[in-house]
Amino acid sequence: MVTGANGQLGMELQELSPRYPEFDFVFTTREQLRLDDLNAIDQFISSQKPQYCINCAAYTAVDKAESEKELAYRINAEAPGVMAAACKKNNTQFIHVSTDYVFNGNGTSPYREEDETDPVNFYGASKLEGEHMVMRNNPNSIIIRTAWVYSEFGKNFVKTMLRLMADKDQISVVNDQYGTPTYAADLAEAIMKIISSFDNPTRHLPTGQAGSPLATHGGIYHFSNEGQISWYDFAVAIKELITISCKVNPISTPEYPTPAKRPAFSVLDKTKIRDTFSIPIKDWNTSLAVCLGKIKNAPK
Ligand SMILES: NC(=O)c1ccc[n+]([C@@H]2O[C@H](COP(=O)([O-])OP(=O)(O)OC[C@H]3O[C@@H](n4cnc5c(N)ncnc54)[C@H](OP(=O)(O)O)[C@@H]3O)[C@@H](O)[C@H]2O)c1
Repeated sequence: MVTGANGQLGMELQELSPRYPEFDFVFTTREQLRLDDLNAIDQFISSQKPQYCINCAAYTAVDKAESEKELAYRINAEAPGVMAAACKKNNTQFIHVSTDYVFNGNGTSPYREEDETDPVNFYGASKLEGEHMVMRNNPNSIIIRTAWVYSEFGKNFVKTMLRLMADKDQISVVNDQYGTPTYAADLAEAIMKIISSFDNPTRHLPTGQAGSPLATHGGIYHFSNEGQISWYDFAVAIKELITISCKVNPISTPEYPTPAKRPAFSVLDKTKIRDTFSIPIKDWNTSLAVCLGKIKNAPK
């Protein structure tokens, strides 16, 4: 079962699903399962009793969350907590997605899973509370924190840049916030690799880890692509890959004020997910080229 079917990650999982014929996928959109209707969540999971539940739905409007706190909290904190409990009751492995925005961004080396959390905006705080509720209600849950997600689907930085670069002679992008982009297709693949390793423990887990991964691998994992760049670097890479003449100017965060504060540094350390599930992690620029190729070749 996959929630948020029409979001970036949900769409990439839909794209990937034919490669996993051993699973019957049930994709839910907002119309089929509203996460702000907490009663509906338990009912839906109890009626489906899926083997795995991947929660790709979230309140992701970071700036709007500052003024829609109640709704953001219900979707990002309470709903995952209810899902986790429903999964435990129905013997379903819960896989939840969280964010680099649980950290304050004052760090200078990649964040590890156990590093202190301290969100600087309400979106981050609501996602952190979601993590706590999930783990409290169902400690076997897997939480994957990711960052700077983009895809050929939905709204994201890459698509915004493509639009702006096509319309304007020059644009300005912040060059003092550092992180690593995540191609949603790579994250979808990582999730399916984790599920496959559960389904057949001897197939993907490193030697000696066969057995009951469900019981041993619950916890938080970090996943993004590899590398460390600023949003400005990301924009320049997009411009160079699509060879467009638009000039990209670097600016500082104070020159681009937003309702929600952003962490200055949110690079994630991926050692744990790579070592536990043998997941290869691609460089951000390799995956960016793949995504831009797909956008270019998509039917207009
Ligand atoms: N995007 C990023 O840069 C980023 C960074 C770090 C972590 N994450 C996390 O990664 C996960 C996937 O993000 P994404 O980028 O794929 O998000 P997305 O593209 O914004 O998709 C979110 C999905 O959630 C659905 N949704 C929102 N409110 C809902 C509700 N009340 N009931 C049911 N469905 C609802 C949306 O439905 P509609 O399609 O109907 O709107 C949408 O399909 C999320 O947990 C997010 O917090 C994202």
